Amino acid sequence: MAKIAIITVAAAVSVGLHLVNDLYAPEPEVLYHTAHASAPEFDWHSLEPSTEIKWTSCYNDQKCARLLLPLDYLSEDLSGPTTAIALRMIPARDRTNYRGTVLINPGGPGGSGTDLLARAGKNISTIVGDSFDVLGFDPRGVGASIPTLNCFSSKGQRDIWLTQEGHQFLNTSDEALLGLYRARQRVVGDRCAESDGGEEGIARFMSTASVATDMLKITEKLGQEKLHYWGFSYGTILGQYFTAMYPDKVGRVIIDGVYDAYNYRGALWNSNLLDNEAVINSLFTYCHEAGPLKCALYESSPGKIRERYYRVLDRVERDPIPVPHAEPPLLITRKALVNQIFRAAYKPINTYGTVVDTIRAIETANQTALTALAPKIVDPTECACRTELPQIVENDAFSAIACGDGEERTYDPEAYKAYYADLTSDAPNAGPFWAVHFLQCTEWSVRPKWRYTGPLAAANTSHPILILQPKFDPVCPLRDALAVRERYGGAGLLVQNSYGHCSMSAPSVCTAKHVRAYMEDGRLPEEGTVCEPDELPFVGQVSDARAMSGEDATLSEALRGLSEVVPMFGA
Ligand SMILES: *[C@@H]1O[C@H](CO)[C@@H](O)[C@H](O)[C@H]1NC(C)=O
Ligand SMILES: *[C@@H]1O[C@H](CO)[C@@H](O)[C@H](O)[C@H]1NC(C)=O
Ligand SMILES: *[C@@H]1O[C@H](CO)[C@@H](O)[C@H](O)[C@H]1NC(C)=O
Ligand SMILES: *[C@@H]1O[C@H](CO)[C@@H](O)[C@H](O)[C@H]1NC(C)=O
Repeated sequence: MAKIAIITVAAAVSVGLHLVNDLYAPEPEVLYHTAHASAPEFDWHSLEPSTEIKWTSCYNDQKCARLLLPLDYLSEDLSGPTTAIALRMIPARDRTNYRGTVLINPGGPGGSGTDLLARAGKNISTIVGDSFDVLGFDPRGVGASIPTLNCFSSKGQRDIWLTQEGHQFLNTSDEALLGLYRARQRVVGDRCAESDGGEEGIARFMSTASVATDMLKITEKLGQEKLHYWGFSYGTILGQYFTAMYPDKVGRVIIDGVYDAYNYRGALWNSNLLDNEAVINSLFTYCHEAGPLKCALYESSPGKIRERYYRVLDRVERDPIPVPHAEPPLLITRKALVNQIFRAAYKPINTYGTVVDTIRAIETANQTALTALAPKIVDPTECACRTELPQIVENDAFSAIACGDGEERTYDPEAYKAYYADLTSDAPNAGPFWAVHFLQCTEWSVRPKWRYTGPLAAANTSHPILILQPKFDPVCPLRDALAVRERYGGAGLLVQNSYGHCSMSAPSVCTAKHVRAYMEDGRLPEEGTVCEPDELPFVGQVSDARAMSGEDATLSEALRGLSEVVPMFGA
């Protein structure tokens, strides 16, 4: 059996299904009024929430609004409590051929759409075409939407909590360690139940059914009949729910990097990691293919590179390496290196070089190099694109959404051990990180008021959905995409012959053109379409950039930008 991972990134410990990197931010006290070195931060707090979308200019040429929607869609009382949903939009530049607004979701669950828009909105706009507005929204409980779910009182407090976990893997053969991991999840579960799990507490109203309904309401308020949407990672769960709940409201719906919503709703978390090892092993294959000039770990076969990599891990397990001059100082343990490659597998093209540099620096005991590499040992996906939006703080939305959507699970030691064994046999590296999701849910007690329990399928939709799927995704395997495809009548499938999470992890102008054709004309790729990536890890560019037309070159640049923000589902 295999498992899928959903990645969230925090210090070196948490796991989830996100597109976007760490969501660090200043203390909550200064959330809404921080000035930044470059652009002044928009003051979301000054934006009057309203029951219609009232756009205000923000971030130079963009539009922001806060839309009031019912907190509780099951309530008879329409004047009851509300939630203010933060919207941030890049308007279409081509008004003549205007085609509507595309909503985007970066996954998580718990990722911020306004943050994704800030990082990659222009790139997404280039790909879908100038005739669409691109709109990021913060799902209820998240980011600049109000209220937010945050069960820690400051970022400092959360950071201390996260670093307390230490350097040992979750390991079910070690009862004490298992007890520790479980007790930690109980602490978070109990804190959230206490702070936000009451009658009108936000934790009870964050289910995917509510968010899908928010997307419908946003679409209606925009004056548009049907939803246009591109969702990544957990965003594919949101897309599956929406399409199942509102099949006649599908305009253009793309789900990219698919997790099977039945597995998700069962709170099983055991399909994600099926292809995880294949993605990790591609490091050795591409290093060999690229040759000694492009890969410093080159050996005469991929197997020998693999042995060399694991030899370093074994050594570090016996003798952890202190890096005292890093800021903050770092201890390189086996767990730190496995965490590095687990994260790197989300976007191999951008990160495998760092993994090789790390191993080389350890082999040569080069402290100068290790000191410089330290932040990328902790998180190789950390990128220069980080914008540090002050309203984006790490939150507890993952548990509220994923555990609340899922069936209620109680902890059973034997069942958990079997599950863990299954997960780690598929994915010895990622399994111990991924297995935490299950504990997150057994120790989470808040139940949502509204949980969608109908079929996650639709024989007929007002327009067929489009599935984009890398052939080898570390946390959302092709097998899930194929299963989901069968459930949605007429759905199109484009497989991208690449490694990494979601199509954007490997730029492919071929894929981008299919996205454009679907968005603009509703055209699906022909049955069996496979797109090749334009770039490979270590090897580099494989398509001839000089031969590209101007339009292809523009797409290629947009794809490169987008590849920086690959969602970190379950990390
Ligand atoms: C895409 O993203 C990159 C990096 O963020 C940026 O430099 C580039 O200008 C963007 N351009 C377009 C047209 O998408
Ligand atoms: C798990 O714990 C057992 C018992 O302490 C130990 O023998 C084993 O090596 C550990 N496994 C891992 C992957 O650390
Ligand atoms: C150690 O790493 C630094 C930085 O990467 C490099 O400049 C230097 O040449 C390396 N030293 C040795 C002895 O390899
Ligand atoms: C599917 O839905 C479309 C659009 O609503 C409609 O035209 C078509 O007849 C439906 N097909 C079936 C088999 O129900």
